[in-house]
Amino acid sequence: MTWPLDAENPDLAPALRRLARRTDLAELLTYAPNAGRLRHREAGAAWIAHHGLDVDPERILVCAGAQHAMTVVVATLLRPGDTLLTESLTYPGMRAVAELLGCRLQGLELDEEGIVPDALDAACRGRGKRPRVLYTVPTLQNPTTATQTEGRRRALAELARRHDLSIVEDAIHHLLVRDVPPLLATFAPERTFLIASPSKVVAGGLRVAWLAAPADAIRRLTHNVWATNWMAAPLNAELFATWIEDGTALATVERKQAEAAARARLAGACLRGRLEGLEDGGGARLLLPPATYHAWLELPPGWTDGLAFAAAAECRGVVVTPAESFVASGRAPAGVRISLSAPRTRDALRRGLERVADALADGPRVAAENARAGTAIV
Ligand SMILES: Cc1ncc(COP(=O)(O)O)c(C=O)c1O
Repeated sequence: MTWPLDAENPDLAPALRRLARRTDLAELLTYAPNAGRLRHREAGAAWIAHHGLDVDPERILVCAGAQHAMTVVVATLLRPGDTLLTESLTYPGMRAVAELLGCRLQGLELDEEGIVPDALDAACRGRGKRPRVLYTVPTLQNPTTATQTEGRRRALAELARRHDLSIVEDAIHHLLVRDVPPLLATFAPERTFLIASPSKVVAGGLRVAWLAAPADAIRRLTHNVWATNWMAAPLNAELFATWIEDGTALATVERKQAEAAARARLAGACLRGRLEGLEDGGGARLLLPPATYHAWLELPPGWTDGLAFAAAAECRGVVVTPAESFVASGRAPAGVRISLSAPRTRDALRRGLERVADALADGPRVAAENARAGTAIV
């Protein structure tokens, strides 16, 4: 998993002590409106403003994490049997939501700038029932690390408008990238359902995220927050609101950003040289942005699928995630995602990366023999 650098999480104890001194705490134990208390919707507006977009708090719902917001949006916009467009490799949590709600995923071709506009256009012009919703992670896409340029975002927004498509923008990694292009929502505010979760850049255990949506969808979305969770826990939203107010949230983002950059440099140093040294390394490609929680490795020729490489890496004592776990539709390419943020320390990360490089150096034939023999070479 891409555990979000938990060693850099904020210190909970002082925040709880400050909360404990307050005289209005009892309110946090009562039911709140399904969309959240106004104060917590305003905290969401402040959080989204840090992403570079001003949104009226009335258009923001408090959800119990991005995963919950995704469930609420898909349940609101699609019916069982409908198609959801996504990147060809997508976040497994969205695969789970689609399965839960009986929707079909249709993957769109990707390049280093994310979804290829012609692929989106073709999917919207295809025969059969016209797709109505696109789910995308425009920044540090999970798993391929692609970040859409501003030009690409404008092109996708324009196509969405032309084909009357709703966009679900998952901005979970937006704040990790310096000089990141504006949110996709900037270019198509009238049709974008923006999910802004602090799980990766502040703390995953908070279980709070904000969903900013077009005004005419708020009533239906609110109904589906009620249907799925009644409301997000007010105590968690209050804690995060205090972290936005006192600067803890942004200070944590800064720390995690710096650590993600240091780990990306370490991964480059560990893997790039070893890849070049491989006989067939010419065919391998490491996608590694300057600050990221994960890297994407396109395997050298000979490796026919990510599963085989993941098994080989496991023999070497390290877990990577094969493309098969992310595939939206069709065949998985031969690739794996390498989490850089899960190891507790940089030293543990370096040891893991060396094992990945060792598995690459083994090559598919030796790796298959090791796997057959059940050998653990640690
Ligand atoms: C792209 C993406 N979206 C959403 C999530 C889930 O976020 P949350 O913990 O806020 O539910 C993840 C977690 O890995 C993710 O990678």
